[in-house]
Amino acid sequence: MILESLLAYLHILAILTLVVFISSEAALCRPEWMNAKTVERLVTVDRIYGIAAGVLFATGLARIYFGVKGPDWYWSNWLLHVKIALFVVVGLLSIRPTLRFAQWRRALHATGALPGEDEVRKVRKQVMLQAHVIPLIPLAAVFLARGFGG
Ligand code: HEM
Repeated sequence: MILESLLAYLHILAILTLVVFISSEAALCRPEWMNAKTVERLVTVDRIYGIAAGVLFATGLARIYFGVKGPDWYWSNWLLHVKIALFVVVGLLSIRPTLRFAQWRRALHATGALPGEDEVRKVRKQVMLQAHVIPLIPLAAVFLARGFGG
């Protein structure tokens, strides 16, 4: 039971980190705040967001294979598939912002140029989409944890 509790804690720790850093990205990725420091910060914030997502996936898998319910119960449960599908959607939505933030920094270092308002708004939309999909995942999680979907 100690392992189960520790895995649950690490999963929640990764969730909290993910939410804090996607919120930071959403707060920073605004045309009115855009300056050289913000461009640099967005790359760092996005990297930590990515690491948190990786730890979240790893702790999720660990809960499947080392949890008391056992992998067969989880893999035959449609709620887990919904969770992972939503997680993959968030992952796909995160690709373009990651590439743009890196491109903005390269442009900043090369010419000192900052990204245009339209460009920032477009990328912000993808950040906000992620921030709206993530809260759906715990809805599947709490029912999964209480034995539904099996
Ligand atoms: C943003 C992504 C995710 C969020 C917000 C999230 C949220 C949660 C929450 C809140 C719980 C605890 C539910 C409860 O005890 O009431 C949980 C449990 C769990 N999560 Fe996640 N999760 C995410 C991603 C994943 C992924 C990607 C996997 C699998 C690879 C996963 C596998 C699990 C498992 C196996 C449990 C234990 C369920 C049980 O107690 O039987 N999670 N998750």
